[in-house]
Amino acid sequence: MNGDTLEHTPVLLNEVIRTINPQSGKLYFDATFGWGGYTKKLLDSCACQVIAIDQDPKVKSRAKEFKREYGTRFNFIESKFSEICSVLKKLNTKKVDGFMFDIGVSSMQLDNPQRGFSFNKEGPLDMRMGNSELTAEEFINSVSEDELADIIYNYGDERKSRKIAKLIVEHRKINPIKTTLHLADIVLKANPKKNNHKKHPATKTFQAIRIYLNDEFNELFAGLTNAEQTLSEDGKICVVTFHSLEDKIVKNYFYKSSGKDYSSYKNLPVETNDSEASLIPGKKAIKPSKEEIETNIRARSAKLRYATRTSSLPNNFTLDDIGFREFC
Ligand SMILES: C[S@@+](CC[C@H](N)C(=O)[O-])C[C@H]1O[C@@H](n2cnc3c(N)ncnc32)[C@H](O)[C@@H]1O
Repeated sequence: MNGDTLEHTPVLLNEVIRTINPQSGKLYFDATFGWGGYTKKLLDSCACQVIAIDQDPKVKSRAKEFKREYGTRFNFIESKFSEICSVLKKLNTKKVDGFMFDIGVSSMQLDNPQRGFSFNKEGPLDMRMGNSELTAEEFINSVSEDELADIIYNYGDERKSRKIAKLIVEHRKINPIKTTLHLADIVLKANPKKNNHKKHPATKTFQAIRIYLNDEFNELFAGLTNAEQTLSEDGKICVVTFHSLEDKIVKNYFYKSSGKDYSSYKNLPVETNDSEASLIPGKKAIKPSKEEIETNIRARSAKLRYATRTSSLPNNFTLDDIGFREFC
């Protein structure tokens, strides 16, 4: 299969655009351009402008098509969440009227066996979304057993992490692990498939390795910080996540920026100082409709959270301050 011909169906598209509420003459930022589904809907809805980034160089050809169609209303820069402030500086732009983040991998990445993200399709163990140095093959054949078990547990919430890590290390002594199916097969041996289990037993292990290699939790936190600093008053940050830990990072970030804190013991929000709120979070996470899940199964675990910027200065805090010391 040629990976360049794959497309991506945007998840929660109408809900994101409704929340952003685009207006002519305003500037919006799509931090996860991908196939451009969110950007296209924004640009078609009114005479607004969009700056888009993606760390994956493969989306540049799609961005070129957008540039041809929308001209000066659209700008694309290959970049990462942690570089949003410097991208804006480079473009001589101080403020943005709304940010969209659609976290995780695109269908173009997941469905292209050459990218190495899928445990269902044979391909090289790569898993890099952008230009990170380490491939999954280099990582899996060199990491210590203890570190690997911790990563699979912390990033994938996989209870069989120790058993999986032990078997991976035993197998790589015999033959280096080079392909996706080789790795999936080893995980399956440590974590056999139960009859009525819907998810493949390698799902969490693959997810953990991908998130670790692409530094996704730190990137998400940096993205939220950069967006909050450059968002206009009354502008919105919309974040769609597909993983419970990512959703928790967003939820805790919004709470902390709203002047509330949460107890690390019960993870419940506890009020502290509302007057210092730099963001006001939407009340509840928005989930896809039954109809959307029926037509796009990848939407099933999606959640949209948003927050609105106030005029107060953002507070400085770290991932550790919102309960994620293990990822700092
Ligand atoms: C789920 S897809 C986005 C799909 C897009 N909304 C659409 O409608 O086509 C996520 C995209 O975000 C990109 N991405 C993930 N983490 C990133 C980061 N830290 N910085 C920049 N781009 C990132 C991925 O490369 C991928 O193309």
